[in-house]
Amino acid sequence: MTQHFKKVNKEDLDYFSLKLGNQNVKLDKESLTEYASDETEDISISPEVVLFPQNTKQVSDIMAYCNENMIAVTPRGAGTGLSGGAIPLFGGVSLSLKKMDQILEIDTKNFQARTQPGVITEVLQNKVSELDLFYPVDPASRGSCFIGGNVAENSGGPRAVKYGVIKDYVLNLKVVLADGSIIETGANVLKNSTGYNLTQLMVGSEGTLGIVTEIVLKLIPLPKYDKLLLVPFYQPRQAAEAVNTILKSGLQPSALEFMDRDAIELALRYSDEKPFELDKEIQAHLIIELDGNKEEDLMEGIEQVFQLLEEYQTGEILFAETAAEKEKLWKIRRSIGEATKRHSVYKEEDTVVPRYKLPDLLSEVKRIGTIYGFKSVCYGHAGDGNLHINILKENMSDHRWNNELPIAIRELFTFVKNCGGTISGEHGIGLVQKQYLDIVFSEKELDLMRQIKKVFDSKGILNPGKIFD
Ligand code: LAC
Ligand code: ZN
Repeated sequence: MTQHFKKVNKEDLDYFSLKLGNQNVKLDKESLTEYASDETEDISISPEVVLFPQNTKQVSDIMAYCNENMIAVTPRGAGTGLSGGAIPLFGGVSLSLKKMDQILEIDTKNFQARTQPGVITEVLQNKVSELDLFYPVDPASRGSCFIGGNVAENSGGPRAVKYGVIKDYVLNLKVVLADGSIIETGANVLKNSTGYNLTQLMVGSEGTLGIVTEIVLKLIPLPKYDKLLLVPFYQPRQAAEAVNTILKSGLQPSALEFMDRDAIELALRYSDEKPFELDKEIQAHLIIELDGNKEEDLMEGIEQVFQLLEEYQTGEILFAETAAEKEKLWKIRRSIGEATKRHSVYKEEDTVVPRYKLPDLLSEVKRIGTIYGFKSVCYGHAGDGNLHINILKENMSDHRWNNELPIAIRELFTFVKNCGGTISGEHGIGLVQKQYLDIVFSEKELDLMRQIKKVFDSKGILNPGKIFD
């Protein structure tokens, strides 16, 4: 794709300052460096300016101006993304939603929350739980990621196995389009069969169709209790098989997470706390969480899990009793991505297959790794068939990393597709996966998506170079 965007000049900066105030227009080296990357691999591309609008009108003014003047705009949440969605590939404006961080309303009568995009996911969760309500969508980065970013990527997390992903909670969105016009995609109701579903088109569109400035989310009653188990397995395949056994039994865990030995080892290595010892024979773990309103039912469920696991070779099962013990386990689980990053440059793959194929996917990852000479850390949301595969660079030469690895990834993704799966479950396509999109979509299907993009953003200024060229 040829670069056809206008560079940001003095006149543009004056306009941005006029609309946002000087303090919300950043050009200093530190800001440009910070906004050059997100959590994706080791990629860094600097914007020309970072803008911090504080309301929908300001976002609209900026978009209208940039559209008129052909300036590329890359929207940005907290920068925790793993597919490069917030990286300003063509420079231009990095539009941070950080200062739009208000929870506008919690409607306890209708079980809804209306928020701005810059609200941290965990902040919203805590706020609604004070009112005995539950917003269950719980990405590993929940302590720092934004609701707006979660909408953009259609984020999930461990609780998706019982509660679904963010798309299942978004009722309505206020969106600024590329030309600055402001729309609402739906209504604040639980059912809606009125026209095309623009709400769901926006969810997961990775900031390429519009900038979400208000989000209406469905809430549910807060479950009163939860129980947490950590189950060690001698064989990773058995751990993956146990996932199916548990779900087939009719139990509905609120989390069913897989971590292979390398994932746990890395997480423990970079953690101050070691909530358990890793036996040298153990090759994988499952985290199993049950939640509900009756403690007796949960204890019965836990007993049932123990019985179901008897057919597998497991080590000593850890039953986390206190809130502090549970939090320590979850902290280890949530830190795997960060620990991998500290250990080595890596590529993160976000494969998802029909759940029964998970054991086969695990074997295939290792087979391809052996052929192409890479080590991988596998973990994730086994109950959803969503396996994160962190491919480590370690000592691999740049040449092999850049030239041979894409071939290996293509082989892996082709396997995933042939299983009936797809190449991203919750991290999006963004910048780093777009070269593989042809594996899962036909030219006709891709063309439909490109046409939709054109309808929303005819000049192509909004998050250019993401999802497709
Ligand atoms: C996780 C993130 C990487 O599950 O999605 O840890
Ligand atoms: Zn995940």
